Amino acid sequence: MKKTVALIFGGKSAEHEISLLSCKNVASAVDTQVYNKFLVGISKQGTWFYFEHESVFEKIKALNDHELPAGAEPVALITRNGSPVFFFLNSKKEVAIDIAFPVLHGTYGEDGSIQGLFKMMNLPFVGCGVWGSAAGMDKAVMKKVLKDAGIPHARYKVLYSHKSYRYEDIAAELGSPFFIKPANAGSSVGVHKIKTATDFSSQLQDSFKFDHKVLAEEFIQGREIECSVMGLNHSPKASVAGEVIPTHEFYSYEAKYLDDQGAALKIPAELSAQELATIQKIARETFTAMGCDGLTRVDFFLKKDGQAYINEINTIPGFTKISMYPKMWEASGLGYKDLISQLIQLGFDRYALDKKLETNYF
Ligand SMILES: Nc1ncnc2c1ncn2[C@@H]1O[C@H](COP(=O)(O)OP(=O)(O)O)[C@@H](O)[C@H]1O
Ligand SMILES: [Mg+2]
Repeated sequence: MKKTVALIFGGKSAEHEISLLSCKNVASAVDTQVYNKFLVGISKQGTWFYFEHESVFEKIKALNDHELPAGAEPVALITRNGSPVFFFLNSKKEVAIDIAFPVLHGTYGEDGSIQGLFKMMNLPFVGCGVWGSAAGMDKAVMKKVLKDAGIPHARYKVLYSHKSYRYEDIAAELGSPFFIKPANAGSSVGVHKIKTATDFSSQLQDSFKFDHKVLAEEFIQGREIECSVMGLNHSPKASVAGEVIPTHEFYSYEAKYLDDQGAALKIPAELSAQELATIQKIARETFTAMGCDGLTRVDFFLKKDGQAYINEINTIPGFTKISMYPKMWEASGLGYKDLISQLIQLGFDRYALDKKLETNYF
């Protein structure tokens, strides 16, 4: 019997639209000899809808409750006799689901929220669990974990919105220029390179629009290298590396999304065998230390002297046409369809491992 995989997209996130682009590709790469697809779009307002056709990815930009295409029906994830099912709110139909693939980026999808819901509903799912997702989303928490594991990263200081800070003090501690970035954000939203006291006061206000917690970080002059990781937490595999070469001062929101020529992507990255081995080793160590499962993209700065620093991790990286995660696997000999099948299988494997744990004591 074919298993049913629920592909979940959209969501209450600034990266809602990117999720639709990602899910379009994931949906077309699901091996339909083995799996049935069940499409669930979460609107910007947080309502869950079943979509019968993949045309949902073509027709509309954001999913909004008041402008959904005809045929979308609201659904709820529930358990029936301990098994996960989608309940159709209008037709009262129920469809059993075997696994969820959250193709969601950013808040509520990548931060452990939806992963908690899947766990409550006894639903196996693709990707990192609650803790790995939450820790991977919060750059301040990530730094603490990296420090504990002895994994190199830029020096930093956490700034809180209820306190005040002086440019001179931070520059004395971290050097100048330095970067500021919201602890919980993505797509370079609220990320600024600070060179002067005037920059600092205006840009810090901008960063605090996105989170109450902002990181000030030493500027690392280096190449931006990325590596795809896949596996169970204790047995990760790393892909060949890729390089992002921004044409802007840094890989800003503008360089990522508004300027077609904002960055050159080079896969595989031009690295010596020694450099690649170091990147892959640190990528795997980071995956394990950060409590990741299934998949994660690990982003680095590589300095001229060969020192590799972790910049950040992305637990649900992009799957759009230009996205690095699937492309780095492709360049490593693993095609899109096999990649998706392996990620789904890993979701089942992790669920089976967790199921062995006792929930009874007496
Ligand atoms: N400490 C740093 N040194 C140099 N460049 C940085 C630093 N931090 C961020 N950047 C630049 O800003 C971009 C976005 O920062 P990042 O931390 O990756 O945030 P996001 O999660 O929004 O992608 C990076 O790709 C890089 O170009
Ligand atoms: Mg980044």
